Amino acid sequence: MSGLKRLSFSSSIFFSRHSRLQQQLFSVSVCMPRFCGLCHTMCSPPTTSASTSSSSCTSIFRYAIGVSKSLKISEKSNCLGRKQWPMQSSTNAKWVESENSSLVVENEGKKATGAKSKGLSSSSVPLFKKRLRIVDIKGGPDEGLKRVGEQLLVRGWVRTCRLQKAFSFIEVNDGSTVSNLQAIATANIEGYEKIDLGLITTGSSVLLDGVLVESQGSKQKVELQVSKLTLVGESDATTFPVQKKKLSREYLRTIAHLRPRTNTFGAVARVRSALAFATHKFFQEMGFVWLASPIVTAADCEGAGEQFCVTTLIPNSHTNPNTPINKIPCTKDGLIDWSQDFFGRPAYLTVSGQLNAETYATALCDVYTFGPTFRAENSNTSRHLAEFWMIEPELAFADLKDDMACASAYLQYVVKYILDNCKEDMEFFSTWIEKDLTTRLTVKWGCDLQSEHERYIAEDAFEGSPVIVTDYPKDIKAFYMRENDDGKTVAAMDLLVPRVGELIGGSQREERLEKLEKRMDALGLNKDSYWWYLDLRRYGSVPHAGFGLGFERLVQFATGIENIRDAIPFPRTPGSADF
Ligand code: 4AD
Ligand code: MG
Repeated sequence: MSGLKRLSFSSSIFFSRHSRLQQQLFSVSVCMPRFCGLCHTMCSPPTTSASTSSSSCTSIFRYAIGVSKSLKISEKSNCLGRKQWPMQSSTNAKWVESENSSLVVENEGKKATGAKSKGLSSSSVPLFKKRLRIVDIKGGPDEGLKRVGEQLLVRGWVRTCRLQKAFSFIEVNDGSTVSNLQAIATANIEGYEKIDLGLITTGSSVLLDGVLVESQGSKQKVELQVSKLTLVGESDATTFPVQKKKLSREYLRTIAHLRPRTNTFGAVARVRSALAFATHKFFQEMGFVWLASPIVTAADCEGAGEQFCVTTLIPNSHTNPNTPINKIPCTKDGLIDWSQDFFGRPAYLTVSGQLNAETYATALCDVYTFGPTFRAENSNTSRHLAEFWMIEPELAFADLKDDMACASAYLQYVVKYILDNCKEDMEFFSTWIEKDLTTRLTVKWGCDLQSEHERYIAEDAFEGSPVIVTDYPKDIKAFYMRENDDGKTVAAMDLLVPRVGELIGGSQREERLEKLEKRMDALGLNKDSYWWYLDLRRYGSVPHAGFGLGFERLVQFATGIENIRDAIPFPRTPGSADF
């Protein structure tokens, strides 16, 4: 947040056009929720109605026309199975757990177990077993009571094992939920000797067979009365690095292979996965086509020169660590001879899939990419990664207001999705990571922009409210953005959110060939290498727009996790590519 606080709006930023734009926004296509949330909460579902009266709403649009240099600098620096089972066609088929917890399909009274079933022909899809998870046992509103009396098999990793006189408490977690399952093992059960031998330690993996019973304790509704304990994998308690005591996130980054065994990183992984699912769900429901944009590219979309080079001219250090520098092929002028490189030219890891997305958007109308992107910027901040995932929708026959409507609808949708579907994890974040996180995620998308709000913005810098800044000076933005009529600004938009700063960067694209060529000339870009991009303006050019959302920043925003390195399983940052 401190970065955002420094983001000072100069007096040249004004909001005078907001009501007109707002009206335009409310006439967007019916599948888009009305934007700006004007009166919407972050968690409100995308509405299918486009008929909302703009007069009853207030806007959070901020116009940054003629933004001063200070904005530019601070803005920059503050960036900051389904199982395919033949019997499923039967309406009576349902999945149940068998006594030993392998999955059985019941079909009209007949039973067939998975691959062992003789009834399956060799061409049948092998049955993937739905495995019983702790979340299936105690994740429901009754916290497991309805399963009391069931014989279950639980698989997981021991969090703690406490020895009492005649029995032991084993807390086990399988990563399906933040909560552990408490298991009671009495001294007479099969496998108890493993406890006696001190082998059921934190980090060890176990199978627990037993009956679910009502718990005597107050901390949980149910517990497992173990009848058989199987030790699957030992864990040396003296060296296992994830002990029960609180460990710093910095330390956990040094053991990224084991940190998912902690409550925080388990929860982050689940919420991240849910956000990815919700992302696809949103765009697929809206009719977008998912596009695999290339990871290796010759173009520099953002023109910032922050690309990692992909080359075989420097031999792989694993196979040949001692290559002399003069073995790199050179031209007679002493320059690197890229024609001898793998791709016959310099090639890079992509910084953005946008340019490729534009080609498909101008054929399929609405597309999105969702994949890894790479930036070789030497930014050691809590908001920058060298490898991060980006979601980049691209909409044809669309302008900036459609773009903003899409961005805000998307954001509202995915936030609502995790609030609805990851309740326990979200409560965990609210308790342990950011107090009142869920309140922050359900705040309004801004309200009336009166002077008190301007003061509020200046003094409290967006605390609690996402903000879209539009129409940046063209000199600070990429070549592809559409020039506004004033000739000085471009139809750009950045969505800023509390704690993270810039979450989304987008724009309407310059669809006019002449203007685009002029801009590329002015920036000294080689038009020949963008011939295919320019072709899109030669053949059936249409107004189009899109945006890019940094997925890890979304995870930060949604979970309250402070450092982006904790929002991705294996962070890549300057000087660090371990694991
Ligand atoms: O604003 P950016 O640079 O925009 C583009 O790349 C456009 N081509 C997107 C488009 O219009 N299709 O990046 C988009 C978003 C940022 O708003 C930020 O959330 C994220 O990508 N981002 C980063 N996230 C983590 N680490 C970095 N180094 C990032 N750089 C950008
Ligand atoms: Mg940006």
